[in-house]
Amino acid sequence: MQSVKQVLSGEMLGMPVDVRGWIYRIRSSGSIIFAIVRDSTGIIQVTVKKGAVPEHDFEAVASSGIESSVTVEGTLAEDKRAPGGYEVRATGFTVVGPSEPFPITEYQSTELLLDKRHLWIRSREQTAVMKIKDSLLRGARNWFHENDYVEVTPPIITGVSAEDSTTLFKLKYFDRFAYLSQSAQFYLESLIYSCERVWALTPSFRAEKSRTPRHLTEFWHLEMEAAWVDNEGNMKVQEELLSAMLRSATDERAAELKHLGRDPAALSKISPPFERMSYSEAMDELQKKGCEVSWGSDLGAVEERELTKDKEQPVFVVNYPKELKPFYMKENPDDARTYKNSDLLAPEGYGEIIGGSERETDNALLIERLRDVGENMENYQWYLDLRKYGSVPHSGFGLGLERTVTWVCKLEHIRDAIPFPRTIARVYP
Ligand code: 4AD
Ligand code: MG
Repeated sequence: MQSVKQVLSGEMLGMPVDVRGWIYRIRSSGSIIFAIVRDSTGIIQVTVKKGAVPEHDFEAVASSGIESSVTVEGTLAEDKRAPGGYEVRATGFTVVGPSEPFPITEYQSTELLLDKRHLWIRSREQTAVMKIKDSLLRGARNWFHENDYVEVTPPIITGVSAEDSTTLFKLKYFDRFAYLSQSAQFYLESLIYSCERVWALTPSFRAEKSRTPRHLTEFWHLEMEAAWVDNEGNMKVQEELLSAMLRSATDERAAELKHLGRDPAALSKISPPFERMSYSEAMDELQKKGCEVSWGSDLGAVEERELTKDKEQPVFVVNYPKELKPFYMKENPDDARTYKNSDLLAPEGYGEIIGGSERETDNALLIERLRDVGENMENYQWYLDLRKYGSVPHSGFGLGLERTVTWVCKLEHIRDAIPFPRTIARVYP
């Protein structure tokens, strides 16, 4: 048995080959069948002449619909018109699992594609997205390993709000309430006192009530935390990690990237250092571009698009006003109105893909800020403990995997960056 990719390498030209997969396209002229068969590695043309295979197999294939699963034996021949330049001339062609008429045809509404998501994920676009994501993740894992980070496994059920308490998913937990994690950050922070550099890939949950092309209620969060690292060091980790992830994707998935309309050569040029711009500079630039913003305004999708639509590399926006960010960030000694933090914005208008900061180590400041936002201090005692027993300067960040994939794969909507998107409107399938 060979994969379609192996067969398309042409090494077995003139020799017998065996493939199996699913019918991607099929047409028959009575005495000859042209089928395109796909497997996980690609698509290949198969031709079958009447008489070349047993009659009942010929009839079964001729009457089978797309998505039927099949096995093919035959000889590999060149054919310039076939996808990939080769075809299999079948001497055996068997239907393994016939397909009912496939409910997805060429032009379908977004709603239908979402209702039939379990079938739509077979599409070549979705397959390419999943493979590119696989390579991005391998690139990240390798980079962390080479740089002495320990992969850890934080909890998903928590008692604290790590980010915006208005987007918490609350769940009944026996005789109490608990929340689904919004970020593993606090747990990663507690692990640096032994492991020093840690990372984790976990699902994060946010009860986002607005429908936008960049918000999911469940997303995959790649987070890291490191002792002895300041905000500048934190940004260096981000630019190196992201570049390594991109290299892994462009090395392993050039064909898939091209299939999605993304030039792998352009992506592979992205390398450190990324541009750094302060929040104040960003405000000036936005005002010059005619945006109605003033110091203190948040950067939403529109503003981030303005800032990045003409960029080819990601850009850091640093030192946001405190009011716009969570309580745990370190005060900026050069401007106490702001934090030592950064958001990394992807180019071409895609906007924020990473949020990170140096962490506040002064418990008095943390307590004051928690009181200001009305948090229940009891839930945070363990977090405050971390500053009492050998506190160290430290930093970390969280990369939104689907946001990153949306940009890398040039997608219009974040839901296509995850096989089963969860949004306010949908938990089926
Ligand atoms: O900027 P955020 O909220 O930062 C944190 O959660 C930090 N505690 C991370 C840390 O320092 N360990 O989220 C981080 C990233 C965002 O930049 C974005 O890419 C992604 O997570 N993200 C979402 N992705 C999809 N849907 C949503 N609703 C998202 N919310 C955040
Ligand atoms: Mg953020």
